[in-house]
Amino acid sequence: MNDKAFHNIDIPSFQHDLIDWYQSNKRDLPWRKDQDPYKVWVSEIMLQQTKVDTVIPYFKRFIEKYPTLFDLANADQQDVLKMWEGLGYYSRARNLQNAVREVASEYEGVVPANEKELGSLKGVGPYTKGAILSIAFNQPVPAVDGNVMRVLSRVLKIEDDIAQPKVKKEFETYVHELISNEDPSSFNQGIMELGALVCTPKSPMCMLCPVQEHCKAFAEGIEEDLPVKSKAKKQKKIPYVVLLIRNKHNQYVIEKRPDEGLLANLYQFPMVPAAEIGMDHMENWIQMEYGLKIKLTEKKGKLKHVFSHIIWQLEIMEADTDAEEVNDGRIRFVSHDELRDFPFPVSHQKMMKYVRES
Ligand code: ADE
Repeated sequence: MNDKAFHNIDIPSFQHDLIDWYQSNKRDLPWRKDQDPYKVWVSEIMLQQTKVDTVIPYFKRFIEKYPTLFDLANADQQDVLKMWEGLGYYSRARNLQNAVREVASEYEGVVPANEKELGSLKGVGPYTKGAILSIAFNQPVPAVDGNVMRVLSRVLKIEDDIAQPKVKKEFETYVHELISNEDPSSFNQGIMELGALVCTPKSPMCMLCPVQEHCKAFAEGIEEDLPVKSKAKKQKKIPYVVLLIRNKHNQYVIEKRPDEGLLANLYQFPMVPAAEIGMDHMENWIQMEYGLKIKLTEKKGKLKHVFSHIIWQLEIMEADTDAEEVNDGRIRFVSHDELRDFPFPVSHQKMMKYVRES
């Protein structure tokens, strides 16, 4: 293969058409105001599994509160989780802060500009590493996510299943061939932007595409058949009864989740695994589990929350207790106003409407 023709693509012309289009069509996004590696890092972590429109206000608030890497390194984890509240995939926030703390202590606060050190930081996988190195440091390193695979599967007519991890690695080798050495930042962001604005999952706007003449899928009219992506396993459904336990001071019981696993270190109203514990045993179970005597009162409603791998089916119930203190370290009583200070997952935030002010 000669180095100017990969998959029969005229690489310099492809780069030129893509980068030119990116320069005149790129969106004015808050993380594009400068090339501060810390801000690029925060934005790329937030943008994983999350849409640009959702990320924008979170990013602005986050950078306002933690304008430098040291501000984030020195923050309380609970405050960081509170800033992340509603974005989901909270391990991203915990890993980001751990990694930033490592940069603060091991690298004097300077984000390392090489693959080895950067890639060894918590939560910095091949995608994030490539995004930071290309966008902040202008190094020609691939940053391949689902959007990039969609665009390139069409341009190059790749019919491999992009759900397979080894296929992602193959795409990284394709980007190594294609990427511009002069402007890798615009190249990588150009592909991301093309995937977001033109080369969309459904009904791509090929008539507006700056690289249409390079696109094999377009030439064959098969752009909507690519990429090939096998379906993920169906999520497992788990039923819970969530208890809004109130005492006579109008304080509610909240529980801190374990420091590992799903929604680690976030707060919630106590959840009873309903597949194992029937309604008749619920009061008993709470007494055994938390040493708290309660009386169930009313059913308040139902909620469903979908995660990537499981679905919570939640039934919300009110309960009363005579207790004023708790002995179990996981739980505590808080007033209506104090609820605001704790980071809750979205499903539990939705239950706040059943929490009475007095
Ligand atoms: N998606 C992932 N990274 C992005 C970026 N830097 N700009 C826009 N969309 C993105």
